[in-house]
Amino acid sequence: MAPVITIDGPSGSGKGTIANRLASRLGWHVLDSGALYRVLGHAAAEAGVSLEDEDRLADLALEMDVRFHDGKVFLNESDVSLAIRTEQAGNAASRVAALGEVRAALLQWQRACARAPGLVADGRDMGSVVFPDAAVKVFLDASPEERAHRRYNQLIEKGLSANLESLVSEIRERDDRDRNRSVAPLRAPEGALVVDSTALSIEEVLERVLERVREILPELRC
Ligand code: C5P
Repeated sequence: MAPVITIDGPSGSGKGTIANRLASRLGWHVLDSGALYRVLGHAAAEAGVSLEDEDRLADLALEMDVRFHDGKVFLNESDVSLAIRTEQAGNAASRVAALGEVRAALLQWQRACARAPGLVADGRDMGSVVFPDAAVKVFLDASPEERAHRRYNQLIEKGLSANLESLVSEIRERDDRDRNRSVAPLRAPEGALVVDSTALSIEEVLERVLERVREILPELRC
């Protein structure tokens, strides 16, 4: 199997940005696993499947045709990149993600992303469940207020509407669900480099991650 670097953490901790920067620096593939759960929430709404119907959601997860291309996300050939980025889509994602059958259905799809020369995978359970043998594991965190602020800026940049106060409470609610669910709860995997990015710039976080990668995979000369 190709080498894997996992980056886990709560929403808005900067995982996506760091995963993309690292992958482009190394020339590796990138897996945004959160997008998979978001697409499933979206597909369920389109198909009229309840977010509590575990069996039908697991079937839908196996059937749906998801593709990542050029920074965009496609569901059955249609571009859903913007639709899956709303807070509503994030909440639907965290509800379907709490279901064991759904997670099991998406496991092989995610593992198949580990192709040469390597994969940077970001999510909640990349280092703990999906790629337990990953070469390097990172766990990124930041305060809920800082994460809400970042999410606010991202949404405004994309031309979507946003309200800072409701973002803070939605982030807390989603954190709670992600950390306390019985299957694959969000927590730092054993042996992970833990970085609190509240007071750090993207460059500073990236540098800490690169230091760890150089230590473990010196042959990459990054
Ligand atoms: O990272 P993102 O905010 O896009 O993820 C959306 C939701 O999908 C998260 O709140 C979490 O509940 C779920 N998720 C997960 N496991 C992953 C990635 C995301 O449970 N590996």
